[in-house]
Amino acid sequence: MPEPVPLFLAPMAGVTDVAYRLLAKEAGADYTATEFTAASGLSRKDAKSWAKVETHPREDPFIPQIFGGVEDEMVETARLLSKDADVVDLNFGCPAPKVTKTCAGAAMMGEPDNLVRMVERCLEASQVPVSVKMRLGTNQETLTVLEIAERCAELGVLRVCVHGRTLSQKYRGVADWDMIAKVVEVCEPYNTPVIANGDVIDAKSAAKCLEVTGAQGLMIGRGAIGNPCIFGRIKTELGWEEFEAPWGDANQAGQKHWAWNRYVELVDEIGGPYAARNMKQHAISFTKGLPGGRELRPHLHAIKDFRLIGEPLNIALEAFSQRRHNTLIVPEAIEAAATASQAGGWRR
Ligand SMILES: Cc1cc2nc3c(=O)[nH]c(=O)nc-3n(C[C@H](O)[C@H](O)[C@H](O)COP(=O)(O)O)c2cc1C
Repeated sequence: MPEPVPLFLAPMAGVTDVAYRLLAKEAGADYTATEFTAASGLSRKDAKSWAKVETHPREDPFIPQIFGGVEDEMVETARLLSKDADVVDLNFGCPAPKVTKTCAGAAMMGEPDNLVRMVERCLEASQVPVSVKMRLGTNQETLTVLEIAERCAELGVLRVCVHGRTLSQKYRGVADWDMIAKVVEVCEPYNTPVIANGDVIDAKSAAKCLEVTGAQGLMIGRGAIGNPCIFGRIKTELGWEEFEAPWGDANQAGQKHWAWNRYVELVDEIGGPYAARNMKQHAISFTKGLPGGRELRPHLHAIKDFRLIGEPLNIALEAFSQRRHNTLIVPEAIEAAATASQAGGWRR
């Protein structure tokens, strides 16, 4: 069994809102980060951008993630955020064309000198440590990750997270853990921890990824969507710690039921105009992989006021996890969804 390492919830746009981050921590994650947020908006004090990096007094550590292709904007944003953040994370991994066309995100992997200068200036401007998240390079012909990771480590970044794919791969193919192992090697002389990311979906793949990469931490993205209990399960299954699961000895469906209700509670507790913004997407994600999920989803989609989506899903998950039904298609849940869908929409 591999030695215990910290587990990170990957930053994910539309997923890692503050309630989901608090939930993931309760479910066993050690670190979480906000979704990536444009330095162009933050440095201009745009309210919607600042809503994306909202935090909560209980969030510890608070790690906002930023991206941008304009050095001065990134530096100013790192300076501003570092007043409240524990760590500022810089994104050099996003493959979305709307990001890369401004030479931001993973496109920066094609410009090592610019990227390194940006990191150096952000480190100078920030009052708190700075971490970086990157891909392997822009494509298989230009794998710049070893040079860039080593130079960032030399500059003194807190940690280097590597998603084992190139920009042109987007999310296709298989994450290259062997390449992450090489990043671990080049960062070792600087004592800079490397966090391996890509294709970890359960305890087995977590153990394998650690064996191959020798990384000092693991980051999980898609495997944690609609499935935040993955962190506690990995820790328990790998015998890392006596993780006191807040879901008791519930089966996987019961874990989802616990997690969904806890998410709804956290959204209520956090309140404010943005807390519930990803509620519908999360509800849909929680039904994935469960029998009857496909059939239940249209009923959830029909609910316009997404704050009302909590109850129908709660009823379905409860009945399913208690084995009163062997699918999520539970008549009471469909009825509750129909009632909720009568309500008008809710706009922020
Ligand atoms: C819906 C979605 C949104 C994402 N948004 C971000 C983001 O805001 N910042 C970031 O660094 N990576 C983002 N990513 C990439 C993930 O953080 C992660 O690097 C990638 O999904 C690979 O890990 P996985 O195989 O565990 O999913 C996103 C991925 C997904 C699926």
